[in-house]
Amino acid sequence: MPLPPRLKVNGPIPARELVALFQHAPWASRRTPAQVRRMLANTEWHVTARTNGRLVGFGRVITDGVFRALLDDVIVEPASRGFGLGRRMVAHLVRRVRHVEEIMLTTGHVGLLRFYAPAGFTRARGHTFKCHPLRSRP
Ligand SMILES: CC(C)(COP(=O)(O)OP(=O)(O)OC[C@H]1O[C@@H](n2cnc3c(N)ncnc32)[C@H](O)[C@@H]1OP(=O)(O)O)[C@@H](O)C(=O)NCCC(=O)NCCS
Repeated sequence: MPLPPRLKVNGPIPARELVALFQHAPWASRRTPAQVRRMLANTEWHVTARTNGRLVGFGRVITDGVFRALLDDVIVEPASRGFGLGRRMVAHLVRRVRHVEEIMLTTGHVGLLRFYAPAGFTRARGHTFKCHPLRSRP
C-alpha cells in the first residue's frame, strides 16, 4: 500500500512546481511563476502535500490574524483525489487560524459544501460582491 502524502505547513515550494499543480484548477491555470512567487511571499499560511517528494496538493490562507481569513487555492492533483488528502490539508490550514473571528472561502460549486463541512464551514447567508479590477476597469 503506498504511503499517504506528507503534509507540511509553510514548507519550501518552487514556483514552477506550484504552477504545474495549478494546471488542474481552472481559475489558477494561467498564473505565472513570477506571480506565484509574489503570491507565496504575501501568504500567511500554505500547506503542501508530497508523495515521494512530488507535489500533489496545495492550499493556502490569507489573513490579518485577528478578524478575517480567506481559505483559497485548495487543489489536489487528479490521481490523488478521493483519499481524504483535500480534507487533511483544509484541517491543517484551519487549525492555523482557529483564533480568527471569521474564515471565508468562495467556490463556484455549492456541492463542495460536503467537502468543507467537516472543517466547520456552512453556507453563508447574504450576498457576495466581487470586483475584478483587471477585467473591469472603472
Ligand atoms: C476539491 C478537492 C480539493 C478535493 O480533494 P480530495 O483529496 O479529493 O478530497 P477528499 O478525498 O478529502 O474529499 C473527501 C470528501 O469531499 C467530497 N468531495 C471531494 N470533491 C468534491 C467535489 N468536487 N464536489 C463535491 N464533493 C466533493 C468527497 O465526495 C468526499 O466526501 P465523503 O467523505 O462524504 O464521501 C479536489 O477534488 C480538487 O483539487 N478539485 C479541483 C480544485 C477545486 O475545485 N478545489 C476547490 C476550490 S473551492
